Amino acid sequence: MLPEDALGRLDLFRESAAILEPAGYGYVETPAFEDTELFARGVGESTDIVQKEMFTFDDMGGRSLTLRPEGTAPICRAYVEHGMHKRPQPVRLWYWGPFFRHEAPQAGRFRQFTQVGAEVMGSDDPAIDAEVIALLADLLREAEARELRLRLSSLGTLETRREYSEELKRYLHGRADELSADVKERIDANPLRAFDSSDPGTQAVMKEAPTLLEWLTPEDAEHFGEVRGLLDATGIEYEVDPALVRGLDYYTRTVFEFTSDALGAQSGVGGGGRYDGLVEQFGGPPTPCIGWAAGVERILLAAGRELISGSVVEVFIAVPKEERRQEGFRLWRQVRGERSVLMGEPGRSMKGQMKQADRVGARWTVIVEDDGFELKDMKSGEQRPIASADELMKALT
Ligand code: HAM
Repeated sequence: MLPEDALGRLDLFRESAAILEPAGYGYVETPAFEDTELFARGVGESTDIVQKEMFTFDDMGGRSLTLRPEGTAPICRAYVEHGMHKRPQPVRLWYWGPFFRHEAPQAGRFRQFTQVGAEVMGSDDPAIDAEVIALLADLLREAEARELRLRLSSLGTLETRREYSEELKRYLHGRADELSADVKERIDANPLRAFDSSDPGTQAVMKEAPTLLEWLTPEDAEHFGEVRGLLDATGIEYEVDPALVRGLDYYTRTVFEFTSDALGAQSGVGGGGRYDGLVEQFGGPPTPCIGWAAGVERILLAAGRELISGSVVEVFIAVPKEERRQEGFRLWRQVRGERSVLMGEPGRSMKGQMKQADRVGARWTVIVEDDGFELKDMKSGEQRPIASADELMKALT
């Protein structure tokens, strides 16, 4: 990331903090790598991520480590390991950092990418579901991501999913000849992934498949109804998509995904859902949770932001004579607290230094003379002498 590209990222980081911190989310960082076991168990053995996308290696002590492909399993690990269940619930957290997946690189898909994410741990209230979705919607709007769509569904409890899975397996086995080879091979391991297939034959079969929404228990259906009602009440638009399958195994109940039609094949800007069983799976108490992660690079692509080439330098200090270097440097330190400032290289030709002042877009240029300063207004071109540094500071503020 060169400075031109990094500027938009910094902005987005600040916008994320400005949205999430006042909503009560605390910033956390987890390590870039963890025990392989954490992801294998947390994300799910049969997922693409675990089967073929993890950067896994043995360290010198013979332990198997993996560069984190996602942030939710590590946060659950940290929640249990650091006794966060003893804090007032729910615990609201947010994060930002690099993640790694060994996927074929293409537009919007990288092997190292950046996610911004939020997780709320310790509540199953539908208002929390609506809250996290609303915050992601706000962030994407603030980032000016274009042509957004929100898809929403519910996967029910793990038990419902298991029952539905069996039903779906029966259905898929019954129509196995019409399915693509890879889907057919995984009917028993992960039947839900058949909804993700781009194969036309498989898609035709999936259009008529039983949906999970029809299998929800009354409590899960009611929970989903509440979430939708809250989104409706605040005018957040969404489509209910019973075929929405997320590529991670830990989801329960609400799942959602924002896509941008401004992006190509990799249109997922951010998504998430409930994972009510994951903390318990890592040895913690029963803790219903929900969260999301969004791809920073994809948000910026979807925003198509013009790169801001304008520099933030307000004051340029030109030092025509090398003997005045100390004077220039003292002034630089004094101005720095008040204004953004850049000092030219003392002794470089005046023409060269003035050119640099222009290039960085300085509003003012201060020329350090033998007996004081010249202050040049770069807009009007007007120039006037100023005797002391104090007077100069006043003129600049
Ligand atoms: P995910 O859908 O796997 O969810 O990833 C979230 C976002 O990360 C995607 O929507 C996409 O924008 C971005 N992303 C994923 N892979 C890549 C890649 N190879 N290159 C660029 N961007 C990528 C999760 O990771 C879950 N942990 C989200 C979550 C949090 N669920 C509950 N809490």
